[in-house]
Amino acid sequence: MKTLPLSRRDRLRHILADLRMPGALEALDTILRDIDGGALTAPDAIEQLLTAQIQLRNNRRLQAAMRSSRLPAVKQLHDFDFTFQPSLRRDQIESLHELGFVERRENVIFLGPPGVGKTHLAISLAIAAAQSGRRVYYGTLADLITSLEEAQAAGRLQSRLKILTHPAVLVVDEIGYLPISRTGAMLFFQLMTRRYEHASTVLTSNKGFEEWGEVFGDEVMAAALIDRLVHHCHLVTIRGNSYRMRQHTELWQTLHATHDDAPAARRRRPRQEVATS
Ligand SMILES: Nc1ncnc2c1ncn2[C@@H]1O[C@H](COP(=O)(O)OP(=O)(O)OP(=O)(O)O)[C@@H](O)[C@H]1O
Ligand SMILES: [Mg+2]
Repeated sequence: MKTLPLSRRDRLRHILADLRMPGALEALDTILRDIDGGALTAPDAIEQLLTAQIQLRNNRRLQAAMRSSRLPAVKQLHDFDFTFQPSLRRDQIESLHELGFVERRENVIFLGPPGVGKTHLAISLAIAAAQSGRRVYYGTLADLITSLEEAQAAGRLQSRLKILTHPAVLVVDEIGYLPISRTGAMLFFQLMTRRYEHASTVLTSNKGFEEWGEVFGDEVMAAALIDRLVHHCHLVTIRGNSYRMRQHTELWQTLHATHDDAPAARRRRPRQEVATS
């Protein structure tokens, strides 16, 4: 039986399927229609086709990272409102998201009071790194220390340290909130010493460095830790209001307004409706 010659459209479909480009394949029909309708030039069409594939790949990487990296939420740079945090240099944060710091194995430290976006930005850096195909891992300081202590008790400390040294980006969140045992502090120091100049760590803390001695229960060790962390480091100090409080203020105002309106609303409502509602 003679096979019919494939149309250009079908050939393109076959090529994209062969190259395993499902994102581009899905976008193909719309893009071809836009070319036919004169809405897209050839370079625009190529760009859209490849961008569709990159978007699908990034989404898949993000989903995989959310499963394996223990990131607690999806927080991305495009969700961050810079107008709310004028102390932040937007160009610095955007350039960090280009991930040169990961390439150079440098650290990023976010310092600032509660609710100013430290965790949000630390996660968005980790997500950017995951979308670029790098391995990332997230933990609060307390969680990471607990996992190291458990590994030590089970005689698996070296392998746990190796696992936590491996990711290209490790987020250590919430330094300064919970008290740490001396053993815990020493285990964390070992981890940071291993990662030093080997892979990037993104840290967040509500405490200034001058208070880290108290946080880690040992001034000398805290000084040695800070020394390693800041050697190749981008320090981002956020001075501003809590975004959480902003949301609470709005919520409070809404509740307040609803409350004030309530008696009037009830007065207007017919008796029967009140009884059945
Ligand atoms: N500038 C911002 N634009 C949009 N969302 C923000 C901004 N700042 C913070 N948020 C949101 O507000 C909430 C609190 O922010 P986040 O958890 O990053 O604060 P934090 O500095 O880590 O606080 P804490 O020290 O209490 O852990 C999160 O849901 C975060 O996504
Ligand atoms: Mg936080």
